[in-house]
Amino acid sequence: MALIISDLVAGYGGAAIVKGVGLSVEPGRIVAIAGTNGSGKSTLVKAVMGLVPKVEGKVDLDGTNLLALPAEARVAHGLGYVPQVANVFTTLSVWENLAVVECGGDRKARIAQMFERFPALAERKAMAAGHLSGGERQQLAFARALMLEPKYLILDEPTAALSVALVEQVFTLIRELPQLGIGVLLVEQRARLALEIADDGIILDQGSEVMAGPAAELLEDNRMAELYLGHAPT
Ligand SMILES: Nc1ncnc2c1ncn2[C@@H]1O[C@H](COP(=O)(O)OP(=O)(O)OP(=O)(O)O)[C@@H](O)[C@H]1O
Ligand SMILES: [Mg+2]
Repeated sequence: MALIISDLVAGYGGAAIVKGVGLSVEPGRIVAIAGTNGSGKSTLVKAVMGLVPKVEGKVDLDGTNLLALPAEARVAHGLGYVPQVANVFTTLSVWENLAVVECGGDRKARIAQMFERFPALAERKAMAAGHLSGGERQQLAFARALMLEPKYLILDEPTAALSVALVEQVFTLIRELPQLGIGVLLVEQRARLALEIADDGIILDQGSEVMAGPAAELLEDNRMAELYLGHAPT
């Protein structure tokens, strides 16, 4: 059981942006995808979701080849995705944001579960999502993804616009995902921050892997310290 990405080449029609990347994540594990602005992190995860026009290579989810399937079918196979931007409907209420998720199962029961897991959302269920704080909004984006009971969940820079205190709050939520048996792909510009909660990591530069391996080893690698960790404000 794993989400296995191999030799992935992806782009938007011109030159390839992601140039032959491989990684895998097992249920209950967190894999960090780090790298500076424009290194291809979002393109990589969008390609895994089926949201990029040109893709070659392999994406295998528990034995199913996802590349042959449209994005909706990938979701049905257990792949969840919280995009970097536009991850909630700002004009809909918190409750409506959950209610519009096509979850297939008992919608009311799942909404109740989400309100139990995220009490701040329960308190604000009638509020327009656009009025939530940054941290609350990320909770809603996570809740929308969890409504679909994913086996694997892709989080694209979930803390990008948040204050240090809220980053900690969102990281607490991410740490709980493996306990639900979910395999997490965490995209994060700040390599050190992501590697501190990940089991494994991969560092991209201009669409290619520059380093990969157990997170603890990457954190101790001198090349990383020089090249990438210096960018981290933490
Ligand atoms: N829809 C698109 N069409 C054409 N080029 C794109 C598109 N989206 C991204 N790119 C280009 O692909 C490259 C990689 O972008 P991508 O968004 O994957 O980087 P990223 O690592 O996620 O960066 P960031 O940390 O800023 O989110 C950039 O040069 C970008 O301009
Ligand atoms: Mg990005």
